[in-house]
Amino acid sequence: MATDAGDPIPRFPDGFLWGVSTSAHQIEGAAEERERSVWDVFTAEPGRVKDGSTAAVACDHYHRYREDVALLAGLGVDAYRFSISWPRVNSPGGLDFYDRLVDEVCAAGVRPVPTLFHWDLPAPLDWLRRDTAARFAEYVSVVAERLGDRVPKWITLNEPAEHTLLGHAIGAHAPGRQLLFDALPVAHHQLLAHGLAVQALRAAGASDIGIANSHGPTWPASAEPADVAAAGFYDLLLNRLFAEPVILGEYPDGTAELMPGDVAADLKVIAEPVDWYGVNYYAPTRVGAPGGADSEYGGLTLPAELPFSVREIEGRPRTDFGWPVVPEGLTELLTGFRDRYGDRLPPLVITENGCSYEGIDDQDRIAYLDAHVRALHTALESGVDVRGYFVWSLLDNFEWAEGYARRFGLVHVDYTTLERTPKASYHWFRDMLRAQG
Ligand code: BGC
Repeated sequence: MATDAGDPIPRFPDGFLWGVSTSAHQIEGAAEERERSVWDVFTAEPGRVKDGSTAAVACDHYHRYREDVALLAGLGVDAYRFSISWPRVNSPGGLDFYDRLVDEVCAAGVRPVPTLFHWDLPAPLDWLRRDTAARFAEYVSVVAERLGDRVPKWITLNEPAEHTLLGHAIGAHAPGRQLLFDALPVAHHQLLAHGLAVQALRAAGASDIGIANSHGPTWPASAEPADVAAAGFYDLLLNRLFAEPVILGEYPDGTAELMPGDVAADLKVIAEPVDWYGVNYYAPTRVGAPGGADSEYGGLTLPAELPFSVREIEGRPRTDFGWPVVPEGLTELLTGFRDRYGDRLPPLVITENGCSYEGIDDQDRIAYLDAHVRALHTALESGVDVRGYFVWSLLDNFEWAEGYARRFGLVHVDYTTLERTPKASYHWFRDMLRAQG
């Protein structure tokens, strides 16, 4: 990969927030000490997870959180983004765990940044039902009441797009439904849940609230009108459908008509002002007209019925997941958001960025992160207001339908002994943060 690696990374503004991210279901384990989530049900079904694994133990973070917080402290990050498991909060003693975790993180001089929903919906609930949004707001109030005195910054949802598209439209993630466009109510109810959660957090006194959405530039496979139209549609589905209700209070291009309920009233709730908008970036997507058959991409099977097909981005290094490494896609995405939404765009935070590679001497990960941090700096220089950057992930963890086969961590986890070993990238990130001062 062509990088400027070796030159010092340019200085970011004072107060820029550096962090790492994880999520509850992917690291905590201790599954028997909480209610079941849709992911427990899904992973118990044969063939759903590629290596047949479950997250019952994962990194056993629930029991080893002190060791993990010490790793955070050693990195020198400003903030730690983790998620709170709604099924655990529903279980006796569950909220006590987050109470201890938040205390430990604060004592390490790191700011806790919880995400309130990172896909592990309590198994009895269903995002096809509108009242799940109301249940979410009740749960958020309980959490905010308990932790709000120490939590400076909140994230409502993680990637409602992926949870809708992978979980409910194509069935690659929990709950494993293949509803295609009948999954759209799942998008609307999550967005409504986001708006209600913002209201609940504000009522509990929170003043720094965002959402983490996954976004990426969409590149047409060619200049042919059919490819350009397919790419525009994909951009609508991945980027605009989830950003515009929050940022503009509107669904894009007539999609409001496809949503359930009193959409105009709901949009007022969904557009409750956020203090910043979180972007998870991994790679751009090259999209063309439908190919007439199922296609494989990045571990997913995309059904032929979809009105687009995903094509390879040629000539780029690939992560172990097969995702292309395109750092300038991050600059393009951020400047594109600024150009698209102008003054209506809240300050941005990169809530996830990272890559899957094997090995403890992970020079590929260093090259990836180095190049993406520089690409982020280029966006800042061109005037995009970005306030923070979180690496996905602190630890190797349960990578959803891929099981333990994909390693995104700065810290290696031996899944037999559960021993943690900081990788070369951990030391690189620590040194970079020191150099930033
Ligand atoms: C998710 C993470 C996931 C990562 C890598 C994001 O879509 O928020 O949970 O592990 O990507 O696939």
